[in-house]
Amino acid sequence: MTSPVWHPFTQHGLREPIPLVERSEGAALHTADGRRIIDAISSWWVTTHGHCHPRIMAAIRAQAETLDQIIFAGWTHEPAERLAQGLVGMMPAPLAHVFYSDSGSTSVEVALKMALGFWLNRGEPRHRILTLEHGYHGDTIGGMSVGARGVYNQAYTPLLFDVGTLPFPIGDGQATLDALETACRDKPAALILEPLVLGAGGMLFYSPRVLAEMRAICARHGVLFIADEVMSGWGRTGTLLACEQAGIVPDILCLSKGLTGGAIPLAVTMATPEIFEAHYSTDKAKMFFHSSSYTANPIACAAALANLDVWRDEPVAERIATLAERQEARITALPNIRDARRLGTIAACEIGGGEGYLASIGPALLAFFRERDLLVRPMGNTVYVMPPYCIDEADLDRIYAAIGEAAERFG
Ligand SMILES: Cc1ncc(COP(=O)(O)O)c(C=O)c1O
Repeated sequence: MTSPVWHPFTQHGLREPIPLVERSEGAALHTADGRRIIDAISSWWVTTHGHCHPRIMAAIRAQAETLDQIIFAGWTHEPAERLAQGLVGMMPAPLAHVFYSDSGSTSVEVALKMALGFWLNRGEPRHRILTLEHGYHGDTIGGMSVGARGVYNQAYTPLLFDVGTLPFPIGDGQATLDALETACRDKPAALILEPLVLGAGGMLFYSPRVLAEMRAICARHGVLFIADEVMSGWGRTGTLLACEQAGIVPDILCLSKGLTGGAIPLAVTMATPEIFEAHYSTDKAKMFFHSSSYTANPIACAAALANLDVWRDEPVAERIATLAERQEARITALPNIRDARRLGTIAACEIGGGEGYLASIGPALLAFFRERDLLVRPMGNTVYVMPPYCIDEADLDRIYAAIGEAAERFG
């Protein structure tokens, strides 16, 4: 019987096999037919410490016994209160306000709406958003509007709002900085970007210096700076936040994926007092008009609280540093690849000629890795490794041996 399930980013017409996963642990997935698959991409960049981290699982179980779900407009609960306190303590000042949502995309929608609400409530409406070329911020209409345009959103292009796109920083990044300086003269509402690494754009890295200068230009012109750390946050780039490496703090910060250690959906959009206070009034028309049914779901908040405990009590920074070293040693030793690069725990390279996201070798590469019991999901010609921090050397060796083999065959 064919399955009624319609999978994301999947062309069912290609009839590629869709493995049934029964169990996960650490850096591995276990399939119904008895295979152990190494998760080289942290299940779409979400799993940080490892699958089914005992402390996070225990927190979910305990919370599920107590309070499952409650409307969050006009009501509150302890996991959400404690988590917000914890996040404010952990993230840089002055990010003092925490707005909950359910996914990276919704955290971005919230950030954009906060920025526009800020300007409207101050009596100077602004609507233009600046973005970085090759950026990705999710698949909702707002997220797609501020992300790169391409084959993945061409059907929806007429609905996407117009944005100002800055060139991706290459070399000293001067062209990007000049473009930002010019664009800021038109009084845009905000700049949104992925700090240091453009993930879905192809694991493209740029320097902390350029990031710091972009932040400074925005501050000088009074343009809000939104850091989308949905992917880069929670240690992926070597530090808790990528922004840390540039010594900057955004006006608005988007976090999701690793917020719960990757166990259960949750997102937050954190904002400075200035943004919050622009919405603070006795006038109902100035409130922040956003909600979703599951805002701050207690079970998800409990998982995120346990994640904060893991960061506090376990040697997470050391694990990240060790993984970064191991990644560096392996990616730089691979023959037959192009553009070997690494940032924190993320390593990437190119295999074969560049044809973009739908590169013809994509499905062949995917199948190649799947046959070797590896969850590696190339983006066009870009092959990257972004595993959970608990992965051991033997599993990393298997991943890199396969990439080496793929480079020889398809390169
Ligand atoms: C930088 C960034 N922003 C937003 C998103 C969207 O997150 P979600 O898939 O949870 O909606 C992603 C997803 O990969 C992302 O990498």
